[in-house]
Amino acid sequence: MDQTLILIKPDGVQRSIAGTIIDRFERRGLKIAAMKLMQVSKELANKHYGIHEGKPFFADLVSYITSSPIVAMVLEGPNAVDVARNSMGETNAGKAAPGTIRGDFALTIGRNLVHGSDSPENAVKEINLFFKKEEIVSYERNNDPWIIES
Ligand code: RTP
Ligand code: MG
Repeated sequence: MDQTLILIKPDGVQRSIAGTIIDRFERRGLKIAAMKLMQVSKELANKHYGIHEGKPFFADLVSYITSSPIVAMVLEGPNAVDVARNSMGETNAGKAAPGTIRGDFALTIGRNLVHGSDSPENAVKEINLFFKKEEIVSYERNNDPWIIES
């Protein structure tokens, strides 16, 4: 089954809406395969956002993601990467559609509450960056046949 890395960024934790955000993904049908509250180090931030190095917003982005704890999750489901990003809404929260996490709870690109991997290949890399193998749990969910047809 496809997996994606989701981060509830520091604004989500500080605003006490981490549970609400997790609820959106859970109710969509995605399965939680791993989850932890953690402080992102400068080193991890530089690795995770390495692709944006040199861009004008890079320093602010590293400072934002390291400013306070985040919740990191591995979510699982068919097309997990695209499904999660659709539920998150546009990167620029000011333009995100109502009904999405960013469209319902955020206003600006620099405080857009969530990160989601942007391709299955990057999901694998990002999951390995944030989680050890033994932190990812494989289990059956009783309601899966009511969410995913076999
Ligand atoms: P994310 O990686 O956080 O899921 O977001 P994304 O794919 O939708 O956006 P991406 O282009 O990867 O940018 C990563 C994060 O950098 C911040 N950003 N700020 N000020 C700006 O122009 C700007 N552009 C990007 C956002 O926090 C974005 O989520
Ligand atoms: Mg991205």
